[in-house]
Amino acid sequence: MPKLKSQEDILKMRNAGRLAAQTLRHVGQFVKPGVSTEELNTIVHEFIVSHGAYPSPLQYRGYPKSVCTSINDVICHGIPSSKEILKEGDIINIDVTATLDGYFGDCSRTFFVGEHIPEDRLKVTRVAEESLARAILTAKHGNRIGDIGHAIQSYAEKEGCGVVRDFVGHGIGKVFHEKDLQIPHFGKAGTGLKITRGMIFTIEPMINGGDWRAQLMKDGWTAKTLDGKPSAQFEHTFAIVGDGVEILTALEDDPIALRAQELGANILWPTLTSKK
Ligand code: MF3
Ligand code: CO
Ligand code: CO
Repeated sequence: MPKLKSQEDILKMRNAGRLAAQTLRHVGQFVKPGVSTEELNTIVHEFIVSHGAYPSPLQYRGYPKSVCTSINDVICHGIPSSKEILKEGDIINIDVTATLDGYFGDCSRTFFVGEHIPEDRLKVTRVAEESLARAILTAKHGNRIGDIGHAIQSYAEKEGCGVVRDFVGHGIGKVFHEKDLQIPHFGKAGTGLKITRGMIFTIEPMINGGDWRAQLMKDGWTAKTLDGKPSAQFEHTFAIVGDGVEILTALEDDPIALRAQELGANILWPTLTSKK
């Protein structure tokens, strides 16, 4: 059984989560045609360091950069490069993780580059976002981990999309990826560990426009769709509290949090209730 978080852990996770969310919002302003992913990496790195924190991906298991930038058919873990320039019509997931006061906050979203996004990229992005919103309704005390994956998979497959199996959500705290708490984005309702107050974990569905399968590139990090179709991802860090959930990486206007609330989720708002 995974170790549950203390009240102090949760307070500190709110701060780490908020910084990751603010970083993601900040870098989002720079997403436009002509910008390189290396420039986005620098923006993320400097924002996090200037707030007294560390960009968690940097040197994590040998990862060479401060953020992951995954364009079009890249599922996740794309490595920023000065040779990679954003083009009109691209979609790009930016995945920000910050370590603040020893605790990790982890979130990502898929951004549109420019205004004219092809229909298949629009669709997979919409399905990924909606799948996370729907998953949030199941993230509460007394449910099972399999309920989360079931919510995502049943919705995404009904929309004709594929759910990536090779990468899963994870427990998070003073450790980036807790091995004893994994959150698959597929599965059967009513199966798996019981979701319990004091758990903190990410949900981060990677949704493919076609086949769910992934292929790993020779750099050892970049994962792409097998069929070349686009893939999109959204991620938040969640704390199971009371009869609902705190989204530690949601700022007050977060569209996924608002959508989940509209669907009936009981969301507690850390950004409004905690100081600093
Ligand atoms: N942020 C990713 C996640 O959501 C992990 C990135 S690991 C890295 O779990 F090494 F690629 F940065
Ligand atoms: Co992440
Ligand atoms: Co994560």
